[in-house]
Amino acid sequence: MPDSYALFGYPVQHSWSPFIHGLFARQTGQDMLYRLHEAPPDQFRHDMLEFFFEQGGCGANVTLPHKRAAAELVNELTPRAQLADAVNTVLRRDGELIGDNTDGAGLVTDLRQNLQLNLTSPRILMLGAGGAARGALGPLLELNPSTLVIANRTANRAIELAEEFSGRGAVSGAAFDGVEPLDPFDLIINATSASLKGAVPPIHSGAVDRNTVCYDMAYGIGETPFTRWALDRGVRNVAQGWGMLVEQAAEAFFVWRGVRPQTPPVLQALHFRANYLASAARTRS
Ligand code: ATR
Repeated sequence: MPDSYALFGYPVQHSWSPFIHGLFARQTGQDMLYRLHEAPPDQFRHDMLEFFFEQGGCGANVTLPHKRAAAELVNELTPRAQLADAVNTVLRRDGELIGDNTDGAGLVTDLRQNLQLNLTSPRILMLGAGGAARGALGPLLELNPSTLVIANRTANRAIELAEEFSGRGAVSGAAFDGVEPLDPFDLIINATSASLKGAVPPIHSGAVDRNTVCYDMAYGIGETPFTRWALDRGVRNVAQGWGMLVEQAAEAFFVWRGVRPQTPPVLQALHFRANYLASAARTRS
């Protein structure tokens, strides 16, 4: 019997994770199955603990809206999950469930390895102060940014989050209109869910110049509203969260299986499939 893994979320049917983990397993010769499990919030506890892990499940990924709830369910948290206050990866070790968080590590690996960014004392602007922003803060502060500004629609959330991480680096919080850059930022990360609603956080155009890297954690076919906003202002380096998606999965795969898969061919396959689906949709319409 192959070892069993699952992704818990609600909704979850749109997920690319089975495709990604399927390619990792094939590439590394691991005998495993990875399935989607759609669990409404009131069923998540039962489904993950009794339905999945008690029936022999080896490990799980957790996505929205269960990342905080998963942190409450596990027996132990890794330091990075504790810092993120959220769990996206669960593994079973000696009968205990350990909650980990690979999102921030996935983002930083994408920035450094796939996008080959030279991040020496970068000036970073993080848009958003929700779960996605929180998960990325620890690993981003390990890059020793000369400044990291968190800007959020609800300014207080940004200020409180910055205070929480203040022992780890030069981090401050503000409202969007409180960011008045004297110089453009080196890196702007959109960790808001605004793209999902077709919106762009209202930041000052002076926050970017052509050398700024604008990274949207969201991803989709074609540009996101935020990458389109950046391109329209002459920014040359824009990226969506496809690489983060693959790298956080590779880190989870490593946590579970002890083998690190090669990510570039998987990222390539993902882009190929996304482009294929986009052109198929265009042909149908
Ligand atoms: P996630 O776990 O995806 O981060 P979340 O915790 O609900 O989800 O956080 C969503 C983030 O996107 C928040 O920073 C939110 O701003 P508020 O704290 O003011 O709610 C931000 N956000 C959502 N929609 C937005 C929009 N249309 N414009 C700007 N920011 C938005």
